[in-house]
Amino acid sequence: MRNKVTVVGGGFVGSTTAQRIFDAGLADVVLTDILEGSPAGKTLDMRQSGAISGSDSFADGISTAAGDYSKSAKSDIVVITAGFPRKPGMSRDDLLKANHEVIKGVVEGVVKHSPEAILIVVTNPLDAMAHAALRISGFPRNRVIGMAGVLDSARMSAFISMELGVSVRNINSFVLGGHGDDMVPLPRYCTVAGVPLPELLAADRIAAIVERTRKGGGEIVGLLKTGSAYYAPSAAVVQMVDAILGDKKMILPCAAYLEGEYGISGHFVGVPVKLGAGGIEQILQVKLLPEEQEALNKSAASVRELITVLGI
Ligand code: 2OP
Repeated sequence: MRNKVTVVGGGFVGSTTAQRIFDAGLADVVLTDILEGSPAGKTLDMRQSGAISGSDSFADGISTAAGDYSKSAKSDIVVITAGFPRKPGMSRDDLLKANHEVIKGVVEGVVKHSPEAILIVVTNPLDAMAHAALRISGFPRNRVIGMAGVLDSARMSAFISMELGVSVRNINSFVLGGHGDDMVPLPRYCTVAGVPLPELLAADRIAAIVERTRKGGGEIVGLLKTGSAYYAPSAAVVQMVDAILGDKKMILPCAAYLEGEYGISGHFVGVPVKLGAGGIEQILQVKLLPEEQEALNKSAASVRELITVLGI
């Protein structure tokens, strides 16, 4: 039985995600965009690359300008990247209302044809858009997941690797909270070859890494000038896709709808979860120090504000 993943939105994040899934042979891929021609061109190109790379996945591209998502039918996973990107100086939250409209159309379109799918939401502001997708789809909370923690932790690991001059493969980073500037990197739970980070690095250097991690997306927006990051975001989505399709039971930080975990209820926040065939199979609760819990509450409050603005 072949797996099928639909990637909605053929911008840099969407098309790079589709290409990574195709290259790894994880699933057949459908790439959608409201543009005519572009998704079909990109996936035809991908298909031809398979003759060289050896991937025998299928790839198909469709325009959804007319709102027709029928070719995405029976997807195991739908990755939603569609929306307006951040421009320099723009916060993720500025995107709120515009992207809410986009999410509405997309989710209504895809769930009709893939009622059993798992939704991975990437569109910003991430936690609020995941909330909108949960409400619009009517799916249970284990099947609507926001991608952010894997990306934010990857950024933190890259910065620790650069600082210490050690392989990034030795590093495990831990970031909780919403995907915004008040996300909560937790140095106490970051390790380098199993050694807690605070034993290896001075407090001021750790503080600088925490700050750079929080602003990690904005730093790249500022450099690119015409868009936002896509290599690390797409790699993060693909790790989640791989964990779900392979039923790997991997513990990854993801945005999940909380119902009392960490003392938070009624919205999405980034927490460590177990990802497998059922989507979010478990939410792990780690012990937090009072100041860590306070930082998490603050980050959760920012997410709650957005939900209130949207009235969802
Ligand atoms: C990022 O963090 C734009 O949220 C996206 O790169």
